[in-house]
Amino acid sequence: MSEKLRVGILGATGMVGQRFISLLENHPWFEVVTVAASPRSAGKTYEEAVGGRWKMDTPMPEAVKKLIVMNVNEVEKVAATVDFVFSAVDMSKEEIKKIEEEYAKTETPVVSNNSAHRWTPDVPMVVPEINPEHFDVIESQKKRLGTTRGFIAVKPNCSIQSYAPVLTAWKEFEPYEVVATTYQAISGAGKTFKDWPEMVGNIIPYIGGEEEKSEKEPLRIWGKVEDGVIKPATEPVITCQCIRVPVLNGHTAAVFVKFRKKPTKEQLIKALVEFKGLPQELELPSAPKQFIQYLEEDNRPQVTEDVNFEHGMGVSVGRLREDTVYDWKFVGLSHNTVRGAAGGAVLCAETLKAKGYIQAK
Ligand SMILES: NC(=O)c1ccc[n+]([C@@H]2O[C@H](COP(=O)([O-])OP(=O)(O)OC[C@H]3O[C@@H](n4cnc5c(N)ncnc54)[C@H](OP(=O)(O)O)[C@@H]3O)[C@@H](O)[C@H]2O)c1
Repeated sequence: MSEKLRVGILGATGMVGQRFISLLENHPWFEVVTVAASPRSAGKTYEEAVGGRWKMDTPMPEAVKKLIVMNVNEVEKVAATVDFVFSAVDMSKEEIKKIEEEYAKTETPVVSNNSAHRWTPDVPMVVPEINPEHFDVIESQKKRLGTTRGFIAVKPNCSIQSYAPVLTAWKEFEPYEVVATTYQAISGAGKTFKDWPEMVGNIIPYIGGEEEKSEKEPLRIWGKVEDGVIKPATEPVITCQCIRVPVLNGHTAAVFVKFRKKPTKEQLIKALVEFKGLPQELELPSAPKQFIQYLEEDNRPQVTEDVNFEHGMGVSVGRLREDTVYDWKFVGLSHNTVRGAAGGAVLCAETLKAKGYIQAK
């Protein structure tokens, strides 16, 4: 490819925005040319606007330090500078819905990390290894919006990434009932221990809206495209509890599953480690080579050992064993701000580019 696509990041100064900036440093297809945030940051250099809020382990990339932050709300002005945008702004759901549609209507594709459009019937919500065919609804969305190249695509919530890929890999055994408890990192709330000292040595048994997302979003991912919209699947039914734990990065899930077709442990492990999707076939730049790894040790997956598996884009599974009430139980782990947020969105954008939905303006 000769020229990189020009990318803007909406909400560039926040936790997820910073993750986009880090992941896109030296990206072979995309170049961050525009950073946008609230009017509080607009007009400052990116370095000044972020100030002491830089939360990544790696230094702020030189290429973005001197970019002047634009105001997210100046849609036409921001859109004129880019081929497409990633959205990671923190506004009310209604405001996000509206502003993402405004960007799409300027013929600027929006790949969003936000939940606002996850249930808009003609907006695809995609994990590229699982349901890349859902991007087909973009054609009917463009008709609704009256656009030729502008659209919105979203990725699902971070909590489901530790078990939805696993259940997908086991589809042939027909899982029909699932109980999951997620143990979620504080970066999922845009926080570090410095900003949230109450979380040190603590557990909080509530994350607003998270249980509903964790139960329902996988069914939409497993749904079918029918008449230009996504019709969610009805099985497996999932019940979930979401708990905030004193971990910086990494959502762990403890999961129980009932299957119609009873598998052996060997069959389940084989299905996990052989599971591949379109990103692996196309060798997309951010695709993990091994999407799901299985760890035999009784004390794995562990956050400190395994969260960065495949640069945070892979899922680690362990503790697969028979259960006395359900058929099988296991523990899954994924990186919530990489696979679960910015990395998942970058992989969506790579898939969209490979399928011809995103090109230079
Ligand atoms: N953290 C995660 O793991 C995660 C995972 C999935 C989804 N999400 C979702 O992603 C979004 C961003 O999360 P985050 O953790 O990155 O939040 P964050 O750290 O609070 O960052 C919020 C960003 O939005 C901007 N912003 C805030 N109010 C605004 C306004 N009124 N107008 C325009 N821009 C505004 C901020 O700009 P200023 O710096 O100028 O204030 C900042 O760039 C949220 O909707 C969150 O629910 C987060």
